[in-house]
Amino acid sequence: MLEVTDLHVNYGPVNAVHGVSFAAEAGKITLVLGANGAGKTTSLRAVAGFHKPKSGRVVLDGQEITGTSAHKVVRKGMALVPEGRKIFFPLTVEENLKVGAYVAPRASVDQGLAVVFEKFPVLADRRQSAAGLLSGGEQQMLAFGRALMSQPRLMLLDEPSMGLAPTMVDRVLGSVRAMADEGIGILMVEQNADAGLEIADHVVVVNRGETVWTGSAAEAGGSRAIVHAMLGDAALDEA
Ligand SMILES: Nc1ncnc2c1ncn2[C@@H]1O[C@H](COP(=O)(O)OP(=O)(O)O)[C@@H](O)[C@H]1O
Ligand SMILES: [Mg+2]
Repeated sequence: MLEVTDLHVNYGPVNAVHGVSFAAEAGKITLVLGANGAGKTTSLRAVAGFHKPKSGRVVLDGQEITGTSAHKVVRKGMALVPEGRKIFFPLTVEENLKVGAYVAPRASVDQGLAVVFEKFPVLADRRQSAAGLLSGGEQQMLAFGRALMSQPRLMLLDEPSMGLAPTMVDRVLGSVRAMADEGIGILMVEQNADAGLEIADHVVVVNRGETVWTGSAAEAGGSRAIVHAMLGDAALDEA
């Protein structure tokens, strides 16, 4: 469904990403692991059309979309849930969700809301609350819900468990697994490697701007020493 090959991304003269490759499949979770500053966010933003790559190929369902701008990428069925969630705190839950529906035909907004509220009943209960009043976990679910409003076939998730209490981590990642089980392809960056490995199908390790390891979650879990070596002390020690 998604094939990213040999991505290179610069910030001015700084070469942040130089050789990232990964893939995502319908109904599966690809987990992207890597230390802070490895280039995970930069890669996701480049794939989603928020930053132009210097080179490399992004192919979605057989069609090359490298460098396509974000609003067009959303229409092609790929939605980014950004690092830090980027919820609009003063807006209500429902208003935040409607922001995510800007590419959907008008008639489907109500249907989209119904789908999101069924998946995340807590959002239905809080639909008229200011989003800033939600807990961190609820805000993450709202960020998922906002992305779901564009009816994506593929979702890119950037550190969904960041800053959440351990019980919330399980709930949030459980909802990621549920979205995949409904057929959505998921590409997920997680610093919490242990929690991520519990739900992932495939694993990609990025180190200093490059993909250095790709394999199944079972292989990655079974060779923690290898993953650990690639990550330094970043993830497995903390988890
Ligand atoms: N806007 C920016 N301008 C310049 N350098 C940046 C910018 N954003 C990130 N970087 C640098 O690019 C590298 C990769 O960052 P990032 O993709 O955020 O890593 P990760 O998400 O894996 O923690 C880091 O060295 C970071 O300092
Ligand atoms: Mg990041």
